[in-house]
Amino acid sequence: HDMALPKTLLFSLLLLVATDTLAQEARVPGCYLHPINVTVRSDRQGTCRGSHIAHACVGYCESSAFPSRHSVRAASGYQHNITSVSQCCTISRLRKVKVELLCPRSRREQLEIFTAQACQCDMCRLSRY
Ligand SMILES: *[C@@H]1O[C@H](CO)[C@@H](O)[C@H](O)[C@H]1NC(C)=O
Ligand SMILES: *[C@@H]1O[C@H](CO)[C@@H](O)[C@H](O)[C@H]1NC(C)=O
Repeated sequence: HDMALPKTLLFSLLLLVATDTLAQEARVPGCYLHPINVTVRSDRQGTCRGSHIAHACVGYCESSAFPSRHSVRAASGYQHNITSVSQCCTISRLRKVKVELLCPRSRREQLEIFTAQACQCDMCRLSRY
């Protein structure tokens, strides 16, 4: 008797597995480039204006907490009972891009802004301005 699966059925099963893993990869939480619409003004009045689709890094990075080792607890006078490890979604590489600004009387101006080029789960930093 014939135990072999028909070729077409086997092929569609393989296809199903392939598309299923693809869909799973898309759902994996992580830290990824995320498009943002940046509007730029030359001054407070907005004499020259432009907009550009730049990138940010948005997503999820791992964090965890462990009961502290005994030596850590003892050294801290039994205050440090929990040891936390955490990472944040950050920009690992920036790139400059030129934005075209439109000014009165159809005059044009160029301005350089930063956009994210690569993202990474890394040490959490406080925001800086
Ligand atoms: C970005 O925002 C500006 C101003 O709100 C808008 O005019 C422009 O159409 C937007 N661009 C895209 C691609 O959404
Ligand atoms: C840590 O655990 C000890 C008991 O082992 C407890 O007395 C102390 O209050 C705890 N410290 C904190 C900050 O929770």
